[in-house]
Amino acid sequence: KNIVILISGRGSNMEAIVRAAQAERWPARIAAVISNRVDASGLDFAAEHGIATAVVANKDYASRAEFDAALQTVIDGFQPDLVVLAGFMRILTEPFVSHYAGRMLNIHPSLLPLFPGLATHAQALAAGVPRHGATVHFVTAELDHGPMVLQAAVPVLPDDTVETLSARVLVEEHVIYPRAVRWFVEDRLTLKQGAVQVDHS
Ligand code: GRF
Repeated sequence: KNIVILISGRGSNMEAIVRAAQAERWPARIAAVISNRVDASGLDFAAEHGIATAVVANKDYASRAEFDAALQTVIDGFQPDLVVLAGFMRILTEPFVSHYAGRMLNIHPSLLPLFPGLATHAQALAAGVPRHGATVHFVTAELDHGPMVLQAAVPVLPDDTVETLSARVLVEEHVIYPRAVRWFVEDRLTLKQGAVQVDHS
């Protein structure tokens, strides 16, 4: 299976997936890491690990539609079976999302359906929830609302700040995202008629 990973920055989730794929000898190849920002530090990690990298800079395009079309062309050049959004900070258009229906995953740093959108850790602290976490989901056109695959929860502690809470969540992201991607490349995770199916046999 060919995996293409999209990042915008640090790329620690991408790194966790690359490391798990190697260590656990997945039946998969990370075909490329693609960023919408030329300064994404995760590109260095990918290049150091012999993975093809590409930049499709959204600032070079006049509209979302043109950017998404260009991005789709670059992604499809790597013939992906799965597209993995890993801290990819762009809202995607409906035609793009439809093109990858059932074969594009995202990780969102909250226990969806709570706190879609940005600044999820600040939202969780402001709401006073006792638990927070992260969700892996299939991507659909409605932002952060696709069918959910896997969640991990962490406690919210009395003295938490955005920094301490996000760090606690990130540790769990690095566990659940590689797990979900592994299920997909092992043909154990599918989206059928909008419903997530996981084969645990
Ligand atoms: C992660 O918290 C992810 O859930 C969110 O953005 C952050 C990206 O971190 N969408 P990284 O680039 O994977 O280190």
